[in-house]
Amino acid sequence: MNPNRWIACAIAGALALALSAQPPQQTKGGLARDPGQAPRKGTINVQKAAFGRLPDGAAVDLYTLSNSNGMRVGILNYGGIVVSLTAPDRAGHYADVVLGMDNLEGYLHGVPYFGALIGRYGNRIGHARFTLDGKTYTLPKNDGDNTLHGGIHGFDKHIWNAHETGDGLELAYVSRDGEEGFPGNLTARVVYTLTPQNELRIDYSATTDKDTVVNLTNHSYFDLAGAGEGDVLGYQVTILADRFTPIDKGLIPTGELRPVRGTPFDFTHSTAIGARIGQNDEQLHFGRGYDHNFVLNGSGMRKAAEVYEPKSGRVLEVLTDQPGLQFYTANFLDGTIHGKGGKAYPFRGAFCMETQHFPDSPNQPAFPSTELKPGQTYHTVTVFRFSAR
Ligand code: GLA
Repeated sequence: MNPNRWIACAIAGALALALSAQPPQQTKGGLARDPGQAPRKGTINVQKAAFGRLPDGAAVDLYTLSNSNGMRVGILNYGGIVVSLTAPDRAGHYADVVLGMDNLEGYLHGVPYFGALIGRYGNRIGHARFTLDGKTYTLPKNDGDNTLHGGIHGFDKHIWNAHETGDGLELAYVSRDGEEGFPGNLTARVVYTLTPQNELRIDYSATTDKDTVVNLTNHSYFDLAGAGEGDVLGYQVTILADRFTPIDKGLIPTGELRPVRGTPFDFTHSTAIGARIGQNDEQLHFGRGYDHNFVLNGSGMRKAAEVYEPKSGRVLEVLTDQPGLQFYTANFLDGTIHGKGGKAYPFRGAFCMETQHFPDSPNQPAFPSTELKPGQTYHTVTVFRFSAR
């Protein structure tokens, strides 16, 4: 080897060593850095591998983002599904903390949106219809009388065009005018970015060529003890919301913004998920537990929620610019789905924190609007930040 090459190799080796020797980064509460700000480039690795083929032959790829702390996030171009996400415990051990399946086949049959991107409209639209500019649009019913998570063939069931960004993955999908009943060709773009601070940042944007409604989110099921390690009833939750949107028995908001104070929905102070979930409360009966939209306090990019798992010490902080957060305690899981490594996913074996506009907004004039017009750009950001204490 010529001497110059040898010196270059030695420098590269020393740099790699220095990077790998960095201790696991642990962020403690608060906003150390503006999460709206794009993270530094160059410290994130992205790898692509084949994951399988859809019945029509389309290739599905798995992109694995990793940072130098050891955090890894696996994402598919199919549905933008987050199949795995590792986070450190208080001893610095990384474990996979999201529910998911070992292979593509597993995702194709009746899995309830594990890790998926949800669109064109996250959560429910009552009676599967809405009126916009005087015209009534009829949607497919896939949840009793309602439309849930964009319909039968939502954004979670399509291949997205993927390209690596240097520190993440950009996914694009064009939803055609009339697809699942929604008006307008909607061009959606979602960028997943992993940061050196153990955050998964999700940037959603969309444009349309006709007036439409849009509400995008991600449906990751988190279990901070490790996916498939039991129920989440002992996890401590804080949700920075003084009000929530009560629902009827079909899980459609009644339109009321009800104060959480004095109800089992008060998570303004850290409280175990299981502390009140069994109370004789009409709202908890309707949701079979927590399956409710919280009206987040404040506006702009801010902290929305925090979950602490006492045994491992893992902490998830959720930051968003959205007005709402669907807190769902996986009340529809019942142990019959066997996920990664063959582990059964039990009743309340995970929680979801779906940042969003309020369910059924297209039928609720008093809720923040989900309308998007030609010439406007929908843009929203959510950050899932992992640490331990
Ligand atoms: C959302 C809904 C729940 C349920 C899950 C998927 O969180 O609010 O009612 O439909 O998605 O099973």
